[in-house]
Amino acid sequence: PPGELAVLGEAEREGHQKWARHLPQKVYELDVGAGQHSFHPELPTQTIWGYDRVFPGPTFVERYGVPTTVRIRNNLLPDANGPGSPQISTHLHNLHSASASDGYPGDFYPRLAGAPPGQFRDHHYPHCYAGEEDARYSATDGDPRESLGTLWYHDHCLFFTAPNVYRGLAGFYLLYDAVDSGNEADPSPAALRLPSGVNRYDIPLLVNDPRIDASGYLQFDQFDNDGHLGNLFCVNGKAYPFHRVERRKYRLRLLNASVTRFYEFYLCSADGANQGFAHIANDGNLLPAPLRNQRKLALAPAERGDIVVDFSAWPIGTRLYLVNRLIQTDGRGPEGAAVNVRGSDGLLRAAGTQILRFDIDADPPVADASQVPDRLRDLPEIPQSEVVRERTWEFDRENDVWTVNGKIFDDTRPAAIVKAGTAEIWRLRGKGSWHHPVHIHMEEGRILSRNGKPPPPHEQGRKDVFVLNPGEDVRVYLRFRDFEGRYVMHCHNLIHEDHDMMVRFDVKR
Ligand code: C2O
Ligand code: CU
Repeated sequence: PPGELAVLGEAEREGHQKWARHLPQKVYELDVGAGQHSFHPELPTQTIWGYDRVFPGPTFVERYGVPTTVRIRNNLLPDANGPGSPQISTHLHNLHSASASDGYPGDFYPRLAGAPPGQFRDHHYPHCYAGEEDARYSATDGDPRESLGTLWYHDHCLFFTAPNVYRGLAGFYLLYDAVDSGNEADPSPAALRLPSGVNRYDIPLLVNDPRIDASGYLQFDQFDNDGHLGNLFCVNGKAYPFHRVERRKYRLRLLNASVTRFYEFYLCSADGANQGFAHIANDGNLLPAPLRNQRKLALAPAERGDIVVDFSAWPIGTRLYLVNRLIQTDGRGPEGAAVNVRGSDGLLRAAGTQILRFDIDADPPVADASQVPDRLRDLPEIPQSEVVRERTWEFDRENDVWTVNGKIFDDTRPAAIVKAGTAEIWRLRGKGSWHHPVHIHMEEGRILSRNGKPPPPHEQGRKDVFVLNPGEDVRVYLRFRDFEGRYVMHCHNLIHEDHDMMVRFDVKR
């Protein structure tokens, strides 16, 4: 029931109850189990694993300042034929929560393989910053320190995250607040009035690349430790889909949920010409200002990018294509963009793989009230004076294992203990010739420099995934605020994560 906190340690219970507004106001239960899924009408219906037995899992639509509790009941059964583990630990990627609710890899359940199904864990999502000075802000003014947008949840079971996510254990979790209110007709002067209506004009798009075998079934090589690349491109679980759109603005929230693949998305017309869009959010947060007239959206595994496309620029009957132009053939990382080709008619055609086709087929029933304002969400200052130390983390491959600072993941002791209420600079370094999208749990970071230079504009917002290309050196500012306990940082090439490119860090008073 709302207002009740179950399955929490004493310290966490106390932490939550100290600020009464963190008590859950909404309660959900998810049934994790096997379900039947069709990737394409020409492929066989097959068994997947899903939150509520569907892939992607249900999309949460939540509000900043309204805490939720999600009870996740694990009804998976051991499956001798498939990869993965029926033990799960669910991480809400980019949420700021107590350690017990964060989906720590070692918190999988049931604890014993083969234990009866139906065990659950309650995840408490406070949807606000739990610091003492909270009273100075109210959810209705918008909170400059924490205001999230496009999040996603996925399994994080120790050693089995890749196969479990690959089999379907992932979904969207969207957060709105007074500024990004999810209502384009919002009369409040603070409201941004971005395109709204989940699955109407505000559409989450989970992109991944399953590998389908000759008989049409999902395939996964458990013995390939480099990475997993597919041969089919899916959006929200469907291969090469199309979507009918009206002649108006849409907010598209792209998530790269692939195990290993990096993407560069372009929007192009049938003649191959690139079309522009506004890039408004990066990972879980709005950018300070929209980047207008963009042509490309690059997403490493686990990165999100929200873009606004104005389909009113084309007549009814037009088809547009979201394509991927980045070529990648192994777990090492992308090899570069496909080159445009000139057709026999002399026109330049965009090379690339079709991900999603948009069919512009109607005028909107009511005039488009949405906008892309010049300012979105201001960035909080970076108080460099709070930095108490700088740590270096090197991501490398040694003797066929993936390491951080020369070590493989050790669940039993932290690689770092950081002090709550302080800030640190984490210097991430990519050794060798591999690409690693590094994800840090619990706190968003800000890139101070990429190879000694300011980061490109789309990386100047708050981030939770930091792409490390070979040899790169990325310095990230992190402020550890309130929650204490165990968290992780890892490569989000999920194969690298499972084969041990992960560290535990603890936050302590
Ligand atoms: Cu999206 Cu630690 O994961
Ligand atoms: Cu990696």
